Amino acid sequence: MDCLLIEGGSRLNGDVEVPSAKNAALPLLCLSLLTEEPVHFTNIPDVADMRSMLRLLKGLGVERLSSGALQCAKIASVVAPYEEVKKMRASILVLGPLLARAGAAEVSLPGGCAIGERPVDIHLKGLQAMGATIDLEGGYIKARCKKLKGCKFVMHFPSVTGTINLVSAAVFAEGETVLENCAREPEVAEVCDALIKMGAKITGHGSSTIKITGVNSLKGMTWQIQPDRIQLLTYLGAGAITGGSIRCFPYRANAMNAVLQSFREMGCEVVEGANDVRLTAPSGKLKSIQIETAPFPGFPTDAQAQFMACLTVASPAGAPSMITEKVFENRFGHVGELRRMGAQIQVKGNMAVIEGVEKLSAAHVMASDLRASASLVLAGLAAEGKTKVSRVYHLDRGYEKLEEKLNAVGAKVRREKE
Ligand code: UD1
Repeated sequence: MDCLLIEGGSRLNGDVEVPSAKNAALPLLCLSLLTEEPVHFTNIPDVADMRSMLRLLKGLGVERLSSGALQCAKIASVVAPYEEVKKMRASILVLGPLLARAGAAEVSLPGGCAIGERPVDIHLKGLQAMGATIDLEGGYIKARCKKLKGCKFVMHFPSVTGTINLVSAAVFAEGETVLENCAREPEVAEVCDALIKMGAKITGHGSSTIKITGVNSLKGMTWQIQPDRIQLLTYLGAGAITGGSIRCFPYRANAMNAVLQSFREMGCEVVEGANDVRLTAPSGKLKSIQIETAPFPGFPTDAQAQFMACLTVASPAGAPSMITEKVFENRFGHVGELRRMGAQIQVKGNMAVIEGVEKLSAAHVMASDLRASASLVLAGLAAEGKTKVSRVYHLDRGYEKLEEKLNAVGAKVRREKE
């Protein structure tokens, strides 16, 4: 297993090129199931989750052409097996497209995970509202339909993958589907834009109400995936926690306003350009702030762990920071590890109170999930001494060439086998 060794204490300065977004790429790749024609993504991110998704799609009949394009001339299987789903919950994203194209899907139930229970009731109830029959058998969701029918459906929470699954199921449904309380994340809007390029009729994406009018078929397309806003904010966080200055590109305006606002409240200078964003840490300490995670355009839960790392060294002896996690019920796996590095954090239910300390100290810590790993790397960059982060396979699910990018701006990070 790989681990990262981080020699902390260097101020990070320089430019970081941000890879394309995993959370956009995962559902985008699944759109290949909706057409016989090739779909070409010009910048598929090189992260472990993408390899899992490509393997899953191959089993369903999606071929990778020599041009790099994906083509599903015929659905070869409608089964997303447990072995794939257990590695990556986003495998559920094949449910909507399979049902729409083949009239059947068998997807292993994802079950709970390190950050919470994560039910899929929204996906299932929405598909049932469109006329699908759903049975849960042997740990699998078994969905069937003759032809899906347009309907009105209100989600009880704006689920990201739930919204995408329902939109991609509705593209071939008879008549109009109106989805309410939809997720407004940029990745959801991007998938809808890609579907429109393939010939789907969709309006309202980016807002809470999305309307889809069914069509008979979709065509192929070429698509460039947007930059990853979570990797981007992690690099800005590396600048903030080390007292440095980091410029990230490419950058899409308005995809991360809540995060930039929080960096500014912490005393950082943030300058947005047409295609880049630069963060410069304050000359003194970061300021303590209050954060509450929420669906987009609120503060993203995927940024919570990285901000907590930064706040462990904010306003030492000043007012404490507070983070309330409102999206997942159990997303504080990084707290125990940050404490082992000297952080002062108290957790009560879904709230963490962070008293800033003068300095973190290096320790051997263990990553528990993807974003928790990133927070431990940030803490290691600021800590005195050599930090070892174990189980970085979590990190590799969603960060591309992290150590290379950090080292290029002055960090000392080495990957080793342990
Ligand atoms: C996506 C992101 C993940 C991010 C999360 C929240 C992908 C591949 N993953 O995950 O990185 O952390 O959004 O921004 O895009 N819920 C239900 N019933 C459902 C579905 C969800 O109650 O059927 C609840 C969940 O338990 C959770 C909340 O809704 O409390 C948000 O989950 P959701 O938006 O669905 O997250 P994902 O789409 O799985």
